[in-house]
Amino acid sequence: MSRIAYVNGHFVSHRHACIHIEDRGNQFADAVYEVWGVRNGALMDFEGHMLRLARSLTELQIHRPMGDAALGTILSRVVSLNYIRNGLIYLQISRGQARRDHVFPPPDTRPGIMITAKPINFEKAESRARKGISVITQPDTRWARRDIKSVSLLPNVLARQAAAEAGAGECWMIDREGFITEASASNAWIVNSDGTLITRPATHDILNGITRRTLFDLARKAGLKTQERAFTRDEVLAAREAFVTSASALLTPVVEIDGKAVANGHPGTFSLQLRESYVATANDRARKQVNRPSVWLVARRGERPVT
Ligand code: PDD
Repeated sequence: MSRIAYVNGHFVSHRHACIHIEDRGNQFADAVYEVWGVRNGALMDFEGHMLRLARSLTELQIHRPMGDAALGTILSRVVSLNYIRNGLIYLQISRGQARRDHVFPPPDTRPGIMITAKPINFEKAESRARKGISVITQPDTRWARRDIKSVSLLPNVLARQAAAEAGAGECWMIDREGFITEASASNAWIVNSDGTLITRPATHDILNGITRRTLFDLARKAGLKTQERAFTRDEVLAAREAFVTSASALLTPVVEIDGKAVANGHPGTFSLQLRESYVATANDRARKQVNRPSVWLVARRGERPVT
């Protein structure tokens, strides 16, 4: 089955999808992106990602190509056209195509937009979560506005590659003061000895993960102790549990850091229970979302949509 992408107003076959060589996303990383998890054919945390997208665009003064409703319809269409039940959907919006010049192009330049989707094997992700992952650490060499979800990801790519070469699942990055900021593509958490969930505050230093925020709300509602503060690698080694959160990893336990076991070297019950309740909430939200645009239903039933 051929994959379908959406590029600048057109649904096209993934193989033939292309953007102009002078798209500013290509030349300057002058673009932002979002990644939604797709669960049972519905986009997870739809509004949260939309809000963060709006914020990233505003911060970089990139025009919105269309309103939320239109964008939501196109996103769900890409989900259904690719028959995605469980997977990820990627959206990128650039400042548009213009002759190369660092200065912004004229205000009437149309933003560039592209959307792709891919399936995820949730069983595989579940077994990865049950096993837990190891992480390595490296200095955080990124720019000072990590709260903006820009496509300028080279330090993240290098960090993740270093993790892969070390046989680890993620790289946790460390600031100049010795505190962990976040991982290359996920947020970092620990559970300390008195059962408090700790993650770094959402300042300019990290990306304010949508999964992170949903999990925080869940934990607070469940009456768990939470704390937003920076923590060190030594605190990870003294922690009862550690984990990462993201749209793709959901909540995945961390069992080893720089070759040393976290707690007993196995995923903690806290993390696994939290993952379970996060997945249950996501499924519940997905069910409710299905009642919205009709295309959700098409994606859920796996039927061929009317094009
Ligand atoms: N990454 N921190 C960084 C640096 C990230 O790239 C991501 C997401 C997160 C978690 O954000 P969220 O919970 O909203 O997915 C934190 C996505 C999945 C990616 O780049 O593929």
